[in-house]
Order: sequence, then C-alpha cells, then structure tokens
Amino acid sequence: MGSSSTSSFSNSGSSWRELPFEDFQWFLKEVKKKFNLDLTGYKPQRVKRRIEILVRKWGKSSYREYFDLIVKDEKAQKEFLDRLTINVTEFFRNPEKWDELKKKYIPVLLKESGSRFKAWSAGCSSGEEPYSLAILLEELRAPTGAKVIATDIDINILAKARKGAYEERSLVNVPPDIKKKYFDYRDGLYYVKPNVKARVTFKRHNLLQDPFDKNYDLILCRNVVIYFEMKTKEELYRRFAEALRRGGIIFVGSTERIFNYRQIGLEVVSPFFYRKVK
Ligand SMILES: C[S@@+](CC[C@H](N)C(=O)[O-])C[C@H]1O[C@@H](n2cnc3c(N)ncnc32)[C@H](O)[C@@H]1O
Repeated sequence: MGSSSTSSFSNSGSSWRELPFEDFQWFLKEVKKKFNLDLTGYKPQRVKRRIEILVRKWGKSSYREYFDLIVKDEKAQKEFLDRLTINVTEFFRNPEKWDELKKKYIPVLLKESGSRFKAWSAGCSSGEEPYSLAILLEELRAPTGAKVIATDIDINILAKARKGAYEERSLVNVPPDIKKKYFDYRDGLYYVKPNVKARVTFKRHNLLQDPFDKNYDLILCRNVVIYFEMKTKEELYRRFAEALRRGGIIFVGSTERIFNYRQIGLEVVSPFFYRKVK
C-alpha cells in the first residue's frame, strides 16, 4: 500500500480527495483473493469512484481500513458486493423488445432446434430475465426439453433468483393474464410457478473468467457490460458469438450495441438483436 493512503480523506464530510491509485490496485487484488471477484476488466475510474463512496460512507480513510471492514462486517460486505455488481432488473424489461423476441425469433429458433433449444441469460441478476424467457417458452408451448441457463457472478442474487419470489414492482410490465397464469400470489409476494421454474437452471459464472458453453440458440446479455472497458466488451461479444450456433440470436440491452459485429460473424437483424451468420 502507498504510504499516502491514510492522509487522503477527510472524515469530516465535505472535502475529500481521491485515494491513491496504487491502493485501489492493492484492494482489487485482495478482493479477488478473498471474494473471488475479479474487477480488472471493469472501467477502473467508475469502480474506484463507487468504492470510494462506500469508504467515505463508513468513515474509513484508506482502502486497507475499508477492506478490513468488509472482511469482518457482513452488512458492509453485502453492500459492497451489491454496489459493485448492480443488480437492478425487472420482468420483461423493455417490453416491446420481448414482444419482438416472442413473435419473430423464438418461434424460428424453436422450429429449428425443437427440444434441443438452449438459451443463456448471462448476468441474470435476481431471475426476472430468465423467468420472463421461460414464460415465453410456456406461452409458445415449447417442448419441455427447451431450457434456459441463467448465470451471474453474484451468489447472493442467485439465491434470490432460485427462490423466485417477487414484489409487485418487479412485475410492472407483466400483463394481468400472464400474472395470473404463471405466478402464485401469497403474503404480498408473487411466486413463479413450478412449470416456469423447471425450465431455468441457475449457476454462478463470471463472464470475464469462466469458460463458455457452446451451441446456444439464444443468448441474452442485457445491461451487464455497461461497466466493462471497450476491449473487454469486444472480447466478450466475440466469445458470445462463438457460443451461438449458426442462426442463433443474441439480444442486448436497449442502450447497447455490438460495434464489431461483422468481424465476429454476426449480422444485425434489428436494433438490439444480432444473428450468427449461417
Ligand atoms: C443490471 S443487472 C442486469 C440484469 C438483467 N440482465 C436485465 O437486463 O434486467 C447486471 C447483472 O450483471 C451481473 N454481472 C456483473 N459483472 C458480471 C460478470 N463479470 N459475470 C457475470 N455477471 C456479472 C451483476 O451481478 C448483475 O446481477
């Protein structure tokens, strides 16, 4: 750690300077060792700013002090992991895109792959995205073999996803008939029904470290890459393209674009949908 680390902050509140970059790098290494969370592919200034807001919030004056805190204090640790991995999501986020997915792409993919249909919700957060997809598969009467793999780096959020219990606000885009058909309402929460749950398998997976499976018909990677550096994003999309079967589709978030799509063997089918060239 740099020696200047403890003098950079004023705990009094209003005036504070940034902590040294070498301390930040030390912190990233320790976080990787301790929590198996590798933040090196993320935009460093954004990550640093986010962490330093937390350092200040807890009245700490260095990365070392803050690291000791998150190792010992469960609440601070959970907050740190939550803030860094930002889990905001909802069912059918950007509903018109889901409509397009349901009407134009899934029927073709199902026709081609039948019960071998395999989709991946990469960065699935608390499960709203993969369950939305599973609901569409039910609606389209997909064979029971048609499945969704849902992955995220954050084990806490995956525990919530597996439970499949949601507050009303997660379901703002869910039409009343779909709500009735695919959720059980108990004690103020909406529980995803077993037939929807049965289509989804949750797993911990780090997109920047772990190997990718192959032969996907459909990959959803939405609102995940936003904090990744351009180089990391390009490499990730290249790996996604490799993971798709020919004719498979990748669905990205509504502020996202795959700029290098041609080089990696994709074509644009409409904004936010790309197809692996046959
Ligand atoms: C904003 S949520 C997106 C949820 C959903 N895809 C959607 O669009 O509503 C971003 C998710 O990406 C996950 N994430 C961030 N970095 C990741 C990584 N390197 N590997 C896997 N998941 C990651 C976070 O844990 C978080 O749950």
